[in-house]
Amino acid sequence: MFVKALDAAEIAPGGMKAVTINGREIVICNHAGTFYAVERACGHAKARLERGALTGWILTCPLHYAQFDIRSGEALSGPAPKAPAGAHPDPRDPALKTVGLKTWPARLEGGAVFVDVQ
Ligand code: FES
Repeated sequence: MFVKALDAAEIAPGGMKAVTINGREIVICNHAGTFYAVERACGHAKARLERGALTGWILTCPLHYAQFDIRSGEALSGPAPKAPAGAHPDPRDPALKTVGLKTWPARLEGGAVFVDVQ
């Protein structure tokens, strides 16, 4: 069932805002007037993703820069490695893994954004 998340005017194109619906923490993203709803907590270490950057459909985590596609929640890249200068990080290091984000259907109706949170 779709539930009103916020007024569309609250988020400029390219912007994001966190909301809580039915106890779920969600980030609403505005990509060129189309809205997407993704899980708020980063799949790596739970950073609040609305504090990151949205470039097109790519949401970059503010903490270690993992990137996610807001259309699918797919993790496009893991967190940035913390190797000392001159060293090469091991790509098999579990600390460099993240998981995708949960997403929910979102739609614009009457100037408001509704999200189907189940
Ligand atoms: S918390 Fe998001 S990349 Fe580490």
